[in-house]
Formats: sequence, structure tokens, C-alpha cells
Amino acid sequence: MNPQISRVDPPAKHGPPEAEQRIIIRGGKPLFGKVRCEGAKNAVLKMMAAALLVEGVTVLRNVPALTDVHMMASIIRHLGATVDIGEGEVRIDATNVNDFEAPYELVSQLRASFVVLGPLLARFHQAKVSLPGGCAIGERRIDLHERGLKQLGAEVGIDHGYVYASAKKLVGTRIYLERPSNGATENIMLAAVLAEGQTIIENAAQDPEISNLADFVNAIGGKISGAGTYQIVIDGVKQSDLHGAVVETIPDRCEAGTFMFAVMATGGDITIDGVNPHHLYSVISKITEMGAEVSIFAPDTIKVKAASRMRATDLTTVPYPGFPTDLQAPLMSVLAAAEGTSIITETIYENRFMQVGELRRMAADIVLTGNSAVIKGVPKLMGAEVKSSDLRAAASLIIAGLAADGVTEVTGLSHLDRGYDKLEDKLRGLGGDIWRR
Ligand code: EPU
Repeated sequence: MNPQISRVDPPAKHGPPEAEQRIIIRGGKPLFGKVRCEGAKNAVLKMMAAALLVEGVTVLRNVPALTDVHMMASIIRHLGATVDIGEGEVRIDATNVNDFEAPYELVSQLRASFVVLGPLLARFHQAKVSLPGGCAIGERRIDLHERGLKQLGAEVGIDHGYVYASAKKLVGTRIYLERPSNGATENIMLAAVLAEGQTIIENAAQDPEISNLADFVNAIGGKISGAGTYQIVIDGVKQSDLHGAVVETIPDRCEAGTFMFAVMATGGDITIDGVNPHHLYSVISKITEMGAEVSIFAPDTIKVKAASRMRATDLTTVPYPGFPTDLQAPLMSVLAAAEGTSIITETIYENRFMQVGELRRMAADIVLTGNSAVIKGVPKLMGAEVKSSDLRAAASLIIAGLAADGVTEVTGLSHLDRGYDKLEDKLRGLGGDIWRR
């Protein structure tokens, strides 16, 4: 075992229990200085699931300290893997996995864990995984996962809230996804790693996290090409071809976007390190249009300087490489105090405007019509007590609080801690007056 890695339990929280914790922000301070991004949550979680393919040890580097990482560790431990979480690293030994059932009480807490279905089916020819159900942001169906696995030759059924999948053998084929779902691309890609012959996924999700997952699979001995494009080719290999590996997690583009929007909301000038600018072109293009000055320093630094007042803009969330749904709520907080009227159209989720009611408590002027939000920029947001309903809504409220007059108190922090590692400390390091109590 790597001596640097040992079992670490979720970070101990000081003060009141998490449910009662709040972030208190005295708004109005511009942000200056340097901040570093962590590894991407949505890449790490899937690579942890993919580690189930290997009879051996895989190590992930650049891993953020998030409750979701601990939750995924609990799920794969439940299946029989050994997981050690250390400072910035996770080590997984899946040699002794002997259980193929991911139960409701675990999957319902972390939807990303549904991606254990593909690796379990590939390696053990069977899996029973709880249906994750809907969540605060939308219905989140799994029909494309189901259809894709069936096309590979699996029998897939749903009974009493569980997906049952089994296959004597999986056989590669061409699978067209009606929409470029991340989760379906991942589950099908991971199931196909050990299928007989070649699988081609057409209209695959092109997100950088999918490429990172494919890099992981190639590092453990799989054969995937085309990840990052709409056509992914997986050449099946044998179980005995797979082996342990050490893989680096890509930077978290959502965290980077959150810092960009924070400085735009408050004014100031910040440098973001440990980021991949190629993953953020849609965001950089949008914020430039709004009046931010963006400079890119290869290979992994972006500087963002706010305008004295940002301009309104319209945007539509679309699959990568378009503007990401995960940054829609955080950007809305900038638009809420920008000059002019903006329209945001959300096309990925049915219900991803939960932040709007809370932003209105902070004096934002936002009207919802169908899947669009019309945002009339006000001169200044006002601090208020607000509650987050999901991860990105939490980021949105924190950005609004940094910009607002007076004090903002944000509760519902369990959502924030799922996806941001020490966000308030990093923002305080940039000059924000922000504390957790
Ligand atoms: N969809 C279907 N059928 C399917 C699969 C998806 O209709 O079989 C629909 C969903 O209902 C949803 C849309 O397609 O409306 C997009 O779903 P997708 O499968 O792409 O999303 P996901 O894999 O469940 C990941 C991220 C989300 C991110 C989306 C879109 C993780 C753990 N989650 O979810 O991240 O919003 O892709 O980019 O990777 C977040 O980080 O805050 C977050 C929610």
C-alpha cells in the first residue's frame, strides 16, 4: 500500500451539526488574488465506479475532499472493494468485490453511483442497482442506459425500484443515443470494455469528464478511442488484460466557473490556477460578451477581471461543448445585478431554477416562463437569509451574497459540500468576507 495513503473519514466538522451550519457573508468586497481549482467531482466519481472493473489496485490523483467522494467510497466498499481516501488521492482495490447489489439507501444519496451498473455487468455478468429516482433538479430518466445495455445483449428489467441486468456475454454493437447523456455514455462505455468485439456509441456525451474516464479505462488496459467526440469506439478486451494504474483527475471546470462568476459579481481581478481553459470556451466566450476581461496563460491558468458593471446576456444551456447547465444558476447571480435584461433558457433539466425564489428574497427581479428565466438586472442585490436546494443553487446563493449589500446567511450546506472543497475558505483567501458557523 502506498504509505502516503491511509483511511481518512469525512472531514470532522467543528461547531454545530452540518444541518444547522450556515455560511455568513458580508457582501460588497471585491475579490483579488490567486486561487487553485480541485479535481473534477464528476470525473472522480465515475472513475471510482470504473475501478470495479479491475482485479487489482487503482489510484486516483488530484481528488477533491467532497462528501460525494466519501459516499461513492461507501458504495463500492459495500460491493466488497477496499477504498482508502488520503490527501488528494483515492486508492481502490476491487480484487475481492463479491456483491453485485447497490442498495437504495446508498444509491438514493448519490445519483452518480448508478454508474456502477456498467462495470458490474461487464465483470460479473450481473448487477442489481437501485433506481436513483428523480431529484431536486429534474426527473433524470435512465431509459438510454437501459436501451444501450440491452443492445449489448444484456437482459435488463426493473422490479420494485431496482434495475436488474444480466448477460451470459456482452457483444459489441453500434448504439445511437437519442440525447448525449453523460450517465448513459458512461454506463454503456464501461459495460462495453469487456464485451466481445467493437462497440460504437453515436451521439455520445463529449464532456471532458468522459474523456478522463476513457483515459482511466485505457490506463487499466481497456481500448477506447474517440472520447471527447460524439463517436466513441470501444474495442472489447479480456478481464485478464486489465490491471491497476495511477490516473490523474482533470480540473473541475464548474469550480473554475464559480470563481469566474464570483469576481464578476463583486468586481476585482483574480487568477485561477489548476484549470484547463479548453474545457471552458463556452463560458469564457459568454463572460467576455458580458464585459469581463479574460486572459489565458498556458497551460492551466486563467485571469478574469470584472467590468465596473457586467452587461446582461442571453444564454441557453446545452450539452458540452455548449454552455453547461451546472453553471446556469451561478451565472444567474451575476445577471441578477447586471446592466439590462437577460434570458436564460434551461434545456437539460425540467426544474433547475430552484435558486430563483431565493434570489428574489435578495431583491432579484426574475420571472419564470416555462423553461426560461427573464432576469432584469437590479442596481444592487440585498443580503438575506436563503436556503440552497441543490449543489449549484448553493454556489449561486454564495455568489449573490458576495455581491449583495449587507449580510447573507446561506443554509442547506450539505448540498455545497457534495461538490465544492473549502469554497468559503478559498473565497475568503480572495478577500471575501465569508465564514461558516
Ligand atoms: N436523460 C434521459 N434519459 C437517460 C439519461 C438522461 O432522458 O437515460 C436526461 C436526464 O433526465 C437529463 C438529461 O438527459 O434531463 C441529462 O442527463 P445526463 O445523463 O447527461 O446527466 P447525468 O449523467 O445524470 C451528469 C452530471 C450532472 C450534470 C449532467 C449534465 C454527474 C455526477 N452528474 O449527470 O452534474 O448536470 O451530467 O451535464 O456527472 C452537478 O454536478 O451539479 C450535476 C448535476
